[in-house]
Amino acid sequence: MKRDFIALEHTRPAELRSLLDLAISLKADWKAGHRDPLLPGRTLAMVFQKPSLRTRTSFDIGMYQLGGHAVYLSPDEIQLGHRESIADAARVLSRYSDAIMARVFAHSDVVDLARYASVPVINGLSDYDHPCQGVADLLTILEKLGQLKGVHLTYLGDGNNVLHSLLIGGAMLGMHVTAATPDGYGPLPGVVQIASALADDSGGSVRLIADPVKAVADADVLYTDTWTSMGQEDEAAVRRQVFPPYQINEELISQAPSVQGVLHCLPAHRGEEITDAVADGERSWLFDQAENRLHGQKAILVHLLKE
Ligand code: CP
Ligand code: NVA
Repeated sequence: MKRDFIALEHTRPAELRSLLDLAISLKADWKAGHRDPLLPGRTLAMVFQKPSLRTRTSFDIGMYQLGGHAVYLSPDEIQLGHRESIADAARVLSRYSDAIMARVFAHSDVVDLARYASVPVINGLSDYDHPCQGVADLLTILEKLGQLKGVHLTYLGDGNNVLHSLLIGGAMLGMHVTAATPDGYGPLPGVVQIASALADDSGGSVRLIADPVKAVADADVLYTDTWTSMGQEDEAAVRRQVFPPYQINEELISQAPSVQGVLHCLPAHRGEEITDAVADGERSWLFDQAENRLHGQKAILVHLLKE
């Protein structure tokens, strides 16, 4: 049966951990100049309903580095669900490509693509989650700290797609994940429930808290994301009023004595959720994290496509 990569909760803990180990080895091989094509002649169709820098470029270059090829389909070209049904688009793309990666608004769109495609479908971000980002995030923490189990990760800001993948992936691999979000902007209760059950099995924990200062007190790693995700632009002015106490700045970091690194999936809105001093500071892991999108996704592609 074909495998998809839609949400981290569909991945078993050992499978997620082995993806991270594969990413580490692919990264080391590439940097050592060992460039054996692992997916020669294989193709990836990339469907975008929203803009992207990292996801588009890292999947495209990742396929190239693996000996394959990626085709970019812009929002205007494909008009998923408008020009033709998602089911038909999935059926057609399955006749041309070995896998489909899709960045969508409604999570149900990527689920439907997977339902009707006969090739693996990878979620390149939906309004529910961002599992490829989650893999890169866990990979970065593992590389920097040498472990995930027992690491305290605090996310500050909007309870969005990026937080959902972090909660599930972190809890699955034994991390203590804290989410500090303003009232009314927390993660989905269903995600918290899944993450809590995973944490019970892994020895990790999940904590929701409103106070940003309390949330960072025992943190090893801090994480933030935009206050206004793609598709929520109409709410930007209101959100700019609500979220400032959750900004990662030097003052907040001074309340977090154990913090070793700061993460942000990017794009960053400097001066909003993160300051320049932190984004460019000595604890910033932002660009190693962005690089790891490439290595993490190469591992996902090899995992799904290698015979
Ligand atoms: N982090 C991330 O997914 O970046 P893009 O929106 O640029 O792909
Ligand atoms: N939460 C953000 C992530 C961007 C990579 C969004 O959905 O726009």
